[in-house]
Amino acid sequence: MSRLSSLSSGAKFVGQIYLERAFTAYAAHVRHDPIALTSLRRYQADPYPVYDLVRSRGAMQPTRLGNWVSASYGICNDVLRSRQFAVKGEEPTGDDPVPRDLLDLSLLALNPPEHTRLRRLVAPAFTPRRMATYATKIEQRVGELLDTVDSRGGFDLVSEFASPLPISVIAELLGVPDVDSEAFAEYGSVIAGALDGVRSVGHLRRLMAAQRQLSRIFDDLFELRRHEPRDDIVSSLVRQQNDEITPEVIAPLCRLLLLAGFETTVNAIGNGVRALLANPEQWRLLVEDPSRAPQVVEEVLRYDPPVQVTARVSLKDMELGGVQVKENQWVVTLIAGANRDPAVFADPNRFDITRTSSVEHLAFSGGIHYCLGAPLARLELAATFRALAERLPQLHQVGKVKMRRATAIHGPQVLPVAG
Ligand code: HEM
Repeated sequence: MSRLSSLSSGAKFVGQIYLERAFTAYAAHVRHDPIALTSLRRYQADPYPVYDLVRSRGAMQPTRLGNWVSASYGICNDVLRSRQFAVKGEEPTGDDPVPRDLLDLSLLALNPPEHTRLRRLVAPAFTPRRMATYATKIEQRVGELLDTVDSRGGFDLVSEFASPLPISVIAELLGVPDVDSEAFAEYGSVIAGALDGVRSVGHLRRLMAAQRQLSRIFDDLFELRRHEPRDDIVSSLVRQQNDEITPEVIAPLCRLLLLAGFETTVNAIGNGVRALLANPEQWRLLVEDPSRAPQVVEEVLRYDPPVQVTARVSLKDMELGGVQVKENQWVVTLIAGANRDPAVFADPNRFDITRTSSVEHLAFSGGIHYCLGAPLARLELAATFRALAERLPQLHQVGKVKMRRATAIHGPQVLPVAG
């Protein structure tokens, strides 16, 4: 690209960002458009009233960009499992949730058969049986981190515990040596923020820099493991490299595994501790019986999941939830809203760790893109809630929680606690 055309497309991009912002603000404040509302700061802290509003208007609601949105469990579940929907349409519509040229989301942006082929390569590393062999290591890591916090004086649960735990776990699984937790946390939050769209030129610059850094880390690691393979995911991927499984395919997959492996779990820990401390009777139930931890995990993921929303594009014209969906139209599935659908979960706005439900929440999505790391996430979360209840039974919040400025990924950025 010539310097002139790159400058002019840069200026166009900047213009687009600010126009989009103004349009969103107008749609939120004046038109009360649900998707635009979720990007307002007050709803980023508590988006659930918006989801209730969407659901109260009907199972399928039109969006300002000519697509559909749903907070109904039945619709979200069907759309995520249906083969008549995909994560990538035949043609980009311009409304695709994530700009394809800015972020390569690997598995999350691939349809079968490419998706099937790639998922098969890494799935063996994440089976519940394989994961169980990590349980002791995870418990140890949880213990080590809790040994270092100043629980009496108070500490930030996010930066001192919730963030370093999953970063070290996924880095070890992948085989990334010498992990710089703080740098990874920064890359994670910049890239996860881009799932909502790029907010500013500064954000775009940070996004590009984070992607470059991660590419560099993995390029070096591929080279290392080609010569010195170990029992880790990167070594296994490098070994399976062939004409179709090229470094151009493996690199985005590793970046996804790394980021999906911690950005979600960090927020799930934060959301979980927040919910437990805001409901002291539930915290007491856990303290009295820490073996309730796995049940706590499921209720946390139902009540306040870290991934709030995903989307699918229709592969053909169809009738759904009483409306006509056209081929290449997106359905935005508000999975966090589906988890509070009163048609499926009794008294859904109540956080209740004793809840028994035969229906699984949608925090890990559904269908072929169901979270590959769910068994790992469940282990990390259960080990965390159990250890906190056993070691810090007096845990309580000591300062103001600061929530992330993001919509798709939801959770506290700072959560001061003591115990
Ligand atoms: C509480 C923690 C987690 C939550 C709530 C979560 C949530 C999700 C969701 C909602 C999706 C699917 C998105 C869609 O359908 O469009 C997904 C996919 C995925 N997750 Fe997780 N995740 C978590 C932890 C993890 C961990 C620890 C890993 C480990 C590497 C991981 C790896 C992945 C991968 C690779 C995919 C893509 C699967 C595919 O497209 O086939 N996740 N996750």
